Amino acid sequence: MKKVYIETLGCQMNKSDAERMYGMLEHIGYSQTVEPKDADLLIINTCSIRQLSEDKAYSQIGVWGKMKKSKPGVKIVFAGCVAQQGGEKVIKRAPYVDLVLGTQRLYELPNLIKRIENGEKIVSIDEKPFEESEIKINRVKGVNAWIPIMEGCNNFCTYCIVPYTRGRERSRKPELIIAEAKKALSEGFKEITLLGQNVDSYGKDLSEGQNLSWLLRQINALDGKFRIRFVTNYPTDITEEVIDTVIELDKVCEYFHIPMQSGDDYVLKKMNRRYDYATYKKICNNIRSIIPDVTITSDFIAGFPGETEEQFENTLKAMTELELDYSNTAAYSPRERTVAAKWTDLYIPEKEKEERLARLNEHNRECCLKSNKKYLGCEMEVLVENFEVRKNGDKVITGRTRNNKIVHIPSEKDMTGEFVNVRITNARTWYLNGELIGG
Ligand code: SAH
Ligand code: SF4
Ligand code: F3S
Repeated sequence: MKKVYIETLGCQMNKSDAERMYGMLEHIGYSQTVEPKDADLLIINTCSIRQLSEDKAYSQIGVWGKMKKSKPGVKIVFAGCVAQQGGEKVIKRAPYVDLVLGTQRLYELPNLIKRIENGEKIVSIDEKPFEESEIKINRVKGVNAWIPIMEGCNNFCTYCIVPYTRGRERSRKPELIIAEAKKALSEGFKEITLLGQNVDSYGKDLSEGQNLSWLLRQINALDGKFRIRFVTNYPTDITEEVIDTVIELDKVCEYFHIPMQSGDDYVLKKMNRRYDYATYKKICNNIRSIIPDVTITSDFIAGFPGETEEQFENTLKAMTELELDYSNTAAYSPRERTVAAKWTDLYIPEKEKEERLARLNEHNRECCLKSNKKYLGCEMEVLVENFEVRKNGDKVITGRTRNNKIVHIPSEKDMTGEFVNVRITNARTWYLNGELIGG
């Protein structure tokens, strides 16, 4: 049997793509290896959200290119978001690449592999999605199964490459999603996370009535004890129906990831985000008033072109005022083809961006600790994801609460995959400590 190694950079969508690739490749005679040097086929799933992620993709592929010199039979596939964007340019820059696979051609992989095995060099980045059929998915072992429900984005935020790399929004067929959820549950997964660049857009291109709430209901109705999550929401697209659904359905967890990007109205406008701070605040407060103990997390960018010190401070203020539970942060990185990248005269100097990012991170730490402290002494249900014996001999299980807080709990036993009740004993910045109740 031939061996395939897949390296995945970037977001959960890429990780999910990798699980699908492994599944498809097994079908045509490849088994998975964790050692690139043993592989006959090397695949990299690339990310182009920031320059750094793109650079990482090319440097990795450079290493493989050198390997190929001593093992010429090896085939190299460059897939994912940088591939979609780069096309022919990838082969020019890295001539040892055999296949450039665009994000919308994922399901064409088995056919293309057969062709490169016969010596062809192929660039397949057509934006017309290659029709998917029911495939085997080799999921990474664990507790949570990622299931993409929609792909692409129509929002064109001025800083963001995703609409250019993932194409326009399209929903996956509900039958496929539900079948995948059933399968994952039968394999022992205890949590289903529905994935999409903008999950609120689910169903816009399907029959009437088929939307995110509807889909949550279908999955909630499946047998067994398990949890359901969904990411990412676009602030102004979250419907009252979805908020009500989270309350109504027992398996759907109290957690929303709602990127705000900036707390300043002028910057938000320049980013082409369709809301101002007051609107975001209203959405947040509304969710909080309906769903007790809900966790709301966000994303922020520091140093967007033209961002003044005062505008940046509005972001810090927003984080504190809204008591956001956690935020992903990044310094603005200009992306080719995007609108904001053309505003070179407004670029914030690198050093300034890094300074702002550091302040943003410091603020984030304070918000996280404050958020975690809310749960001191509380009883919470934890789904255990992991067991470790630490260097000092301590045995610890780690898992998440329904509202997505990480909890470390002393335990003699590996309880991975179990739901346990825990009392919170300590709050740290990034996690909680707890003890088993009655354990
Ligand atoms: N669909 C989601 C975000 C997907 S991209 C949304 O609507 O918010 C994930 C995050 O990467 C974004 O939320 C943004 O904070 C960050 N990001 C995107 N483009 C970026 C860029 N050019 N520079 C820095 N961060 C960026
Ligand atoms: Fe990017 Fe904006 Fe689409 Fe999110 S909504 S993926 S930030 S363009
Ligand atoms: Fe990166 Fe593409 Fe995801 S750019 S963040 S891998 S959608």
